[in-house]
Amino acid sequence: MRAKISASMMCSDLVNLKETIRIFEEENVEYLHIDVMDGEFVPNFGLGVDYIRGLRSLTTIPLDLHLMIKDPEYKLQWLGIKETDIVSIHYESTYQVQRALDWLQPFGCKRFLAINPATPIYVLEEVLDYIDGLNLLMVNPGFAGQKMVPSTMKKAERINSFLRERRKNDIIVEVDGNISPESGKRLREIGADIFVAGTSSIFRGGVENYRNNIRILRNALNL
Ligand code: DX5
Ligand code: ZN
Repeated sequence: MRAKISASMMCSDLVNLKETIRIFEEENVEYLHIDVMDGEFVPNFGLGVDYIRGLRSLTTIPLDLHLMIKDPEYKLQWLGIKETDIVSIHYESTYQVQRALDWLQPFGCKRFLAINPATPIYVLEEVLDYIDGLNLLMVNPGFAGQKMVPSTMKKAERINSFLRERRKNDIIVEVDGNISPESGKRLREIGADIFVAGTSSIFRGGVENYRNNIRILRNALNL
């Protein structure tokens, strides 16, 4: 699979949203990463239902919905999920992870399980049959512009063999948090597929820099 970019929309400023989306379309950015935050699962409020609806009217780029909310299984129908979208629910966000994944299935989207930096890989063991991908958090979620938690790089290095040993190498690996061209390149080498691009890469500087930033990131990922 070719490396894909998922632009972290919490890093975009609303004033230039139309222009930003136009650049993303022209540069074939594969996904728009939407951090949905409820102030409970993470210490921040974030992009919600109205924002998602507004974004849909601006573009057909598929959404990569990262649900950082408690008990997401009861809130899925609020989001207008499309078959072309990715939806990540957090392992830590519900007591009934498998049920949440089950309830996601009728939407026909790609089902991802996200895990926080302190959550070990082995929690994926019993749900590998119910997911299309996993979202490895490289920072504690909730805020853009954080530094990578050092232990997450080692964890990412183990993912590939974990999946291979279970004959599950078709599971897509997404990485989220402090993905720069440099760390992205390293993560690409160890098998990551989707790269959440925020202030550490494509949103560096102003809107006039985005196109060039995307090209720099793509170059780093595809070497
Ligand atoms: C966490 C968020 C952030 C951020 C990514 O869920 O997705 O990690 O927007 O961009 P950075 O970390 O580069 O600002
Ligand atoms: Zn995210």
